[in-house]
Amino acid sequence: MTDAFGLYLHVPFCSVRCGYCDFNTYTADELGEGATRASYADTAIAEIDLAARSFGDAVPQVDTVFVGGGTPTQLPSADLVRMLGAARERFGVAPGAEVTTEANPDSVTPESLAELREGGFTRISFGMQSAVPHVLATLDRTHDPARVPEAVRWAREAGFEQLSLDLIYGTPGESMDDWRRSVESALALDPDHVSAYALIVEQGTAFARKVARGEVVMPDDDKTADKYLLADELLESAGLGWYELSNWARDEAAQCRHNLLYWRGGQWWGIGPGAHSYLHASAGVPGRGRLVGHRWWNVKHPAAYAQRLAAGESPRQDGETIDADTAHLERVMLQTRLRDGLPLAELHPAGRAVVPALVDRGLVVTDDERLTLSLQGRLLADAVVRDLVD
Ligand SMILES: C[S@@+](CC[C@H](N)C(=O)[O-])C[C@H]1O[C@@H](n2cnc3c(N)ncnc32)[C@H](O)[C@@H]1O
Ligand code: SF4
Repeated sequence: MTDAFGLYLHVPFCSVRCGYCDFNTYTADELGEGATRASYADTAIAEIDLAARSFGDAVPQVDTVFVGGGTPTQLPSADLVRMLGAARERFGVAPGAEVTTEANPDSVTPESLAELREGGFTRISFGMQSAVPHVLATLDRTHDPARVPEAVRWAREAGFEQLSLDLIYGTPGESMDDWRRSVESALALDPDHVSAYALIVEQGTAFARKVARGEVVMPDDDKTADKYLLADELLESAGLGWYELSNWARDEAAQCRHNLLYWRGGQWWGIGPGAHSYLHASAGVPGRGRLVGHRWWNVKHPAAYAQRLAAGESPRQDGETIDADTAHLERVMLQTRLRDGLPLAELHPAGRAVVPALVDRGLVVTDDERLTLSLQGRLLADAVVRDLVD
């Protein structure tokens, strides 16, 4: 558990929707009436204002800010800086805070990056995905791969302290050599951090329909696991160590503090349409055991979101309370994925009883205090977690 408090700012705009993505994001055509990009920063600032006021005299200082999307850099840098300014004014941002924005390589210029850096952003995460044109085409990515080194150079020149690259593996048609080329191209840019996620077929997306029609065929799990192993080998030998299943960093300072806050049970407020928030609770619920937290989420569509805030109302749509059992499940699931591992004391007796068998199968290693996934265990992390919580 961590005491850190984070602010997530969602920007729900993209120039094109990638076929595989089901994030809450809209192209200009999809957006419809009632919300515009031009008015978005003011609407989000209205929510920042409401959020801070809901804490009364006990407004927490923010340790990490993460602007995600969608594509935050579809908005002018001045808007993103203004949103960050509102967070500073209404909440207070801790000295030395990590302030990240996501960005697509073809949505930045040297000037827009310099403006973000001067405005207080310290970290940038580019959606590189692949260095191979046919893979990018299958993913519907619009950027020319040659744009990535340029965007990285501009971000370095602008003075970003931390730079991360997102990669995807397991795209239909991607060979092992294609994947090697993508990881090596990313490493050639000397990033501080790399995230590598296996492509997920999200139901309801254009990509899922193509898979269902047999137009593209997903690779089998063994091939995808081999790609994970190759990525880990290349990243580790270049000095980027894994600290979460899908995340590697140059050193501790380069680890994403905002994501670590999610994974370690910290509190955060999510601003924007569809954004989720989580706060610890101090009260108990009779008959349900100890209440550990509240989670809630905002209305999903930017027009509904804007309408609520224009009327001075909270954009909250619904929420749930998190009791001790749910919190335990989530902690085991998230912390087992971290290199730091899971404190054995977190496990219920039934979970502790399966640990020796997991050790025998070579899936986890333990010392007196913690359980950590082995390399083999990282490939089977979901199954390990299921055993630990069953
Ligand atoms: C929501 S995007 C935001 C940043 C930016 N728009 C971009 O695409 O780079 C964050 C990351 O989620 C990844 N992502 C989205 N859908 C995914 C899926 N179905 N499987 C794996 N990764 C996915 C994207 O590729 C991207 O790297
Ligand atoms: S650019 Fe990013 S957020 Fe937008 S559709 Fe593509 S993956 Fe999703």
